[in-house]
Amino acid sequence: MAIKKVLVVGLGLMGRGILQVCAQSGFESYAYDVSEDAVKKAAGHIEKSLDKRVQKGKMTEADKDKILSNIKPVTDLKEAKDVDLAIEAVFEDINVKQDVFRKLDAVLQPNAILASNTSALPATPLASVTKRPDKFMIIHFHQPPTVMRLIELVKAIQTSDETAALAMEFCKAINKDPVQINVDCPGFLTNRTMIPLLNEVIYCIYEGVSTKEDIDLAYKSGFNWPMGPVTLCDFIGLDTLLHIMEDLHARRGGDKFIPCPLLSNMVAAGYLGHKSGKGFFDYTK
Ligand SMILES: NC(=O)c1ccc[n+]([C@@H]2O[C@H](COP(=O)([O-])OP(=O)(O)OC[C@H]3O[C@@H](n4cnc5c(N)ncnc54)[C@H](O)[C@@H]3O)[C@@H](O)[C@H]2O)c1
Repeated sequence: MAIKKVLVVGLGLMGRGILQVCAQSGFESYAYDVSEDAVKKAAGHIEKSLDKRVQKGKMTEADKDKILSNIKPVTDLKEAKDVDLAIEAVFEDINVKQDVFRKLDAVLQPNAILASNTSALPATPLASVTKRPDKFMIIHFHQPPTVMRLIELVKAIQTSDETAALAMEFCKAINKDPVQINVDCPGFLTNRTMIPLLNEVIYCIYEGVSTKEDIDLAYKSGFNWPMGPVTLCDFIGLDTLLHIMEDLHARRGGDKFIPCPLLSNMVAAGYLGHKSGKGFFDYTK
């Protein structure tokens, strides 16, 4: 089986980027979100991003039109029933994700691969709600998907070698660098190690150890990070970060993943980072 048609479910920060990457790589790319507003915003965002590339001379207007013509928004999952691969990028909540996979399993052709872009949930409980757990895979893109080349690939314990090989082939076809994670463990590699660091950085702001500007400067100047960790938190989305931390704490135990109260309070106040216009920094201007 070769992957030709892809469906992206959930068109927020990650889903719209994954959709753009698939369309740019020539895949017929279906797009679905429960929110009509999210579909409109995603389309506008992708068009703006491609316009910038045309202006910079990185692609022609004809290239842009071809990419946009590869994108097919749908209002009912049944309209995408012939896809070979569905990538879920909805909220980081196991119940919401399991519900999406039950629906996809019921609608898509039996051979189609089901994939999740979860940041930290294990693969096996997601695969297990479907009748095709051997065709399940975590394909974890990094933010922003149009720029970051890393993809973590995680198999559920039921995933077949054929599915894993197809997922690897797909990642190469979209010009990414897939890294195979050998154990289905919460947090995989990058988030297991990065989340405690970001939480500690938020504690440093909370305790007044340094200013957020100086913390970002320290990592950029000291470790050559292209973006400081405080800005990174804002770009991940503070609600997403909190969900990942709470879930990792529940699944892994210990005190490494207990969210800093400042993070919980910012989410409660609706300060979600770049996507809401305000997080640790202000993005409204
Ligand atoms: N933000 C990051 O830096 C990052 C990085 C890697 C992976 N992820 C993971 O990607 C996933 C999405 O994260 P995000 O930051 O794009 O979130 P987001 O909040 O920006 O977008 C989520 C989208 O899912 C839609 N949605 C919710 N329930 C749905 C359903 N039942 N069916 C269809 N659409 C539904 C929402 O309307 C929204 O548009 C999460 O699992 C997250 O952990 C996030």
